[in-house]
Amino acid sequence: MKVIITGANGQLGNDCTQVLARENEVIALGRRDLDITRADEVNTVIDRRRPDVLVNCAAYTRVDDCETEKELARKVNVSGPQNLAAGVDRIGGHTEKQNIDVVETICDILDETVADKDIGPRRDLVTFVTDRPGHDRRYAIDFSKLKEELGWTPAESFESGIRKTIAWYLSNMQWVQRVQSGEYRTWIKQHKG
Ligand SMILES: NC(=O)c1ccc[n+]([C@@H]2O[C@H](COP(=O)([O-])OP(=O)(O)OC[C@H]3O[C@@H](n4cnc5c(N)ncnc54)[C@H](OP(=O)(O)O)[C@@H]3O)[C@@H](O)[C@H]2O)c1
Repeated sequence: MKVIITGANGQLGNDCTQVLARENEVIALGRRDLDITRADEVNTVIDRRRPDVLVNCAAYTRVDDCETEKELARKVNVSGPQNLAAGVDRIGGHTEKQNIDVVETICDILDETVADKDIGPRRDLVTFVTDRPGHDRRYAIDFSKLKEELGWTPAESFESGIRKTIAWYLSNMQWVQRVQSGEYRTWIKQHKG
């Protein structure tokens, strides 16, 4: 598969590039290669490269500065994705959910697969925090264009996908522990300086 990654020099972009490059032809584009706020550049790149998939990792992420740089934040986080979405077919899952529903589903699957009497029902462990500034309110992809034009539908439902995701984490606990302990930062330092 040919994959374009925008914002490829950021944290997410870098990781996506490394993982996806294992099995795909990846075109990693940093901001200097493609500024997603420029609709003309976006169209030219998509037309010329003809990717199967485009993964947008470009974003205005300085959440504390959003209040003073409203225009720029809006341009990068709203107009940019609109430019990209206009040029490609969108893929979604028809599974818009509230965070609490996702959290409770994860709790229930963990109770079912790795029950622990000492922990009890995981739903009881949930605590609520206040939203951070610039917090995304909603993710809801309209993939009707892809469905109508190509008859595409998701192969995985949210329920089947979340079970597979949890199973992956449970069988890769060493990886999880390295993230929790902060050991992964050593890897980042070694590889990204
Ligand atoms: N990191 C995570 O754990 C995580 C988790 C969930 C969701 N996300 C989401 O993933 C997105 C990226 O996060 P991140 O942590 O990777 O942020 P990041 O490290 O700050 O990377 C953002 C990248 O976007 C680039 N960029 C900014 N404006 C651009 C533009 N106009 N055109 C093209 N590229 C542009 C930046 O380039 P410059 O450095 O040159 O400005 C930077 O390389 C955000 O929407 C974030 O909310 C991240």
